[in-house]
Amino acid sequence: MNREKILSVEDLSVRFKSDEGIVNAVSDVSFELAHGEALGILGESGSGKSVTLRTIIGLLPRNRTDIRGRVRFDGREIQDLSNDEMNAIRGARIAMVFQEPMVAFDPVFTVGEQIAETIVRHDGSSWADANRRALDLLELVQIPSAKRRLASYPHEMSGGMLQRSMIALALSCGPQLLLADEPTTALDVSVQIQIILLLRELQRELGMSVILVTHDVGVAAEISDRLAVMYAGRIVETGTAAEMIEAPCHPYTDGLLSSTVLNATKGKKLNAIPGAPPDLIALPRECSFAPRCRHVQQQCLSGIPRLEPFGKGRATRCLRVSEGQLELQSANPAL
Ligand SMILES: Nc1ncnc2c1ncn2[C@@H]1O[C@H](COP(=O)(O)OP(=O)(O)OP(=O)(O)O)[C@@H](O)[C@H]1O
Ligand SMILES: [Mg+2]
Repeated sequence: MNREKILSVEDLSVRFKSDEGIVNAVSDVSFELAHGEALGILGESGSGKSVTLRTIIGLLPRNRTDIRGRVRFDGREIQDLSNDEMNAIRGARIAMVFQEPMVAFDPVFTVGEQIAETIVRHDGSSWADANRRALDLLELVQIPSAKRRLASYPHEMSGGMLQRSMIALALSCGPQLLLADEPTTALDVSVQIQIILLLRELQRELGMSVILVTHDVGVAAEISDRLAVMYAGRIVETGTAAEMIEAPCHPYTDGLLSSTVLNATKGKKLNAIPGAPPDLIALPRECSFAPRCRHVQQQCLSGIPRLEPFGKGRATRCLRVSEGQLELQSANPAL
């Protein structure tokens, strides 16, 4: 697998103007993604996950958004591209799957027509070829009776089927990068698992890079090579999925993990993290997790901790690591 970087995000900050003040939705976010790699972005509601994805695919209103930092896709700076250049990349080379599949489809055309139309528009295929490829795609995402389903309207499909169709639509132009924003949240648990397994299979089969946004650690762990945990617009911990689940370092990651079914099934108690995230309009100039942190100490209130690298490709924003207070307890000697 070619492990060159397809995407690099450097010091990204995104702020919105609102009536109440400036919303600091994303602050100092940096990460890289290799060809064929799957990154899971985790974090509770409002932590900046969707805004990060929308910045990468250029879906934020430029006039009302203050975007700082750099996003490089396949060697080109996204923010330097014209609207036309961005439109050419969107859908064709970077595609997005949303939580709510109805937003991706027009209710008055059949699913088959919409997938075929995207293909014709993208590469000038004939309608006959595009219809054949639309059928292949519905089969690829394992829609039963795919031929018949090509002629279905969006409202005639179940939630799971529509989600599969949206994935087919996203794959129709052979994107190198797939952004999936909570693609299974609206579905029943059993259908969720099927869709996640499908995404993992497609990612491996097609060698695509994937960023999956979710607040479900189990879902992220299933599909991701690496994880990034966001809190109040910042990445607070990142590393390989296996190591982070084995030995979370930031108290927030630890809290997220122990509040999931992953650990409940191992006999641990489910612990929701008490408290709420800070107001993004008045972000504190200290560790933003401090008020909820059971390890908080005086130094945590003296500034925003840096994202400190440690171990093999891991990093965390916690003074306990930067000041060497944390014994990195792990079965993995590389840590
Ligand atoms: N266009 C906008 N104008 C003003 N504020 C916005 C805008 N878009 C997002 N925000 C704010 O930015 C913050 C981060 O939003 P974002 O949608 O990235 O959260 P999220 O992590 O995806 O949460 P969820 O899990 O609920 O989807 C939120 O406080 C949100 O209200
Ligand atoms: Mg979101």
